[in-house]
Amino acid sequence: MINVAIDGPAGAGKSTVAKGAAAKLGYIYVDTGALYRAVGVYALRHGVDTKDGDGVSALLPEISVELKFIDGVQHVFLNGEDVSAEIRTPDASMAASNVSAIPSVRSFLFDLQREIAGKNNCIMDGRDIGTVVLPNAQVKIFLTADPEERAMRRYKELIVKDPDVKYDDVLADLKVRDYQDSHREIAPLKPAEDSVVYNTTGNSLEESIEKVINIIKEKTNG
Ligand code: DC
Repeated sequence: MINVAIDGPAGAGKSTVAKGAAAKLGYIYVDTGALYRAVGVYALRHGVDTKDGDGVSALLPEISVELKFIDGVQHVFLNGEDVSAEIRTPDASMAASNVSAIPSVRSFLFDLQREIAGKNNCIMDGRDIGTVVLPNAQVKIFLTADPEERAMRRYKELIVKDPDVKYDDVLADLKVRDYQDSHREIAPLKPAEDSVVYNTTGNSLEESIEKVINIIKEKTNG
């Protein structure tokens, strides 16, 4: 199987770029952030502090998270319920970042990610795909962009659903998540040593997809 790992901070455009590249190459696109978001949403629903390692760990035996690909689009199921929309709120983003620092949550989601990559040509995006989940991926890309540009992209996505969203709040949340995701003890966000680092600041979506496809083709002689 050909596995492409794309890691990088929130709002770097990983999911849009990975989705576009996967569609053109005929690979499946796997968004691993959705798994952490589903666990975060479960904890929020049950009133458990998402930073409380013991509290969140105690919930794990009650949780089943599945990814299904419907018409090529990933849906995430939490105990059989499709929560693909609910996991996209700002509260779910912060909850995901919080629970993702808990070691038992990371090991809970590890096998599922490995299993999907073992069975499919895929582009998998996340924070630790090239460093921990798929250390033998044929292609590793670290996608990033300046925080202000990442916050503006995220803001434009969120304002469509909620007209009260403030750019400054989005930027502040993003900086908190950047810090948490890259400073946690377990599987922190960082470029794998053998990754290609690509900063998309100022590039259009089409340019970024094109560039990522070229990196993949180069590395896989495709
Ligand atoms: O990619 P995303 O914004 O949907 O991810 C949500 C959170 O989940 C992110 O802040 C950190 C965590 N995450 C992680 O720790 N490891 C991954 N492979 C993917 C996401």
